[in-house]
Amino acid sequence: MKQKSLFIALEGIDGSGTSTHSHLLKGFLESKGFKVHLTMEPSESDIGKLVRKYLKDKNVPPAADALLFATDRNLHYHNEIKKKLEDRYIVISDRYLESSIVYQSLQSDKISVEWVMEINKFVALPDITIILDVDPKTALARKEEADLEKFEDNSFLHKVRNLYLSRAKQEGYSIVNSDDIIEFVQEKIQKIILDKLKDLS
Ligand code: TYD
Repeated sequence: MKQKSLFIALEGIDGSGTSTHSHLLKGFLESKGFKVHLTMEPSESDIGKLVRKYLKDKNVPPAADALLFATDRNLHYHNEIKKKLEDRYIVISDRYLESSIVYQSLQSDKISVEWVMEINKFVALPDITIILDVDPKTALARKEEADLEKFEDNSFLHKVRNLYLSRAKQEGYSIVNSDDIIEFVQEKIQKIILDKLKDLS
């Protein structure tokens, strides 16, 4: 039987482990014989690189951030993700649209969730979104103080965490507590994905 495509997004506050778990999940799914494409946002496009540079710059207006993330995502989806899904890959994106909905809408009273969705309406939604949930204190303890980016602040991350959790409830996303031994957290993620793959077959 031919493999079906699946688009997975891993989300969570900074330091929640989306990168670690995306890599582990890729290895696990490949060991089961699936073709897997691992990617991330900000992406590796020129816009993605600019956005990464701006993560160190508090003078970039929030609306500019939101528009640049949306542009990066548009290029990323149409030039990369869509093609891999058409080739029947499982695509794992370390962050995607939900990051913009949560982080950008919390950056300014003038930026609503609806507006972020509107500027991102030209890309497809993931088939499954998993939120890695962890206390911001624990998450920040995993980071080097000198390397902190503009969103990596305890009180901001509390708001990010709460919005992720309420969005998860509203949209039916899976929540996995990532404040545990990596292997246990990864096993929970693997189970969610294996169940989803079973539903597809
Ligand atoms: P992160 O994924 O933690 O990358 P790294 O491990 O390389 O630091 O950092 C990306 C940051 O960008 C994170 O603070 C969330 C933020 N972000 C947004 O604000 N909006 C978005 O749409 C995306 C994809 C990320």
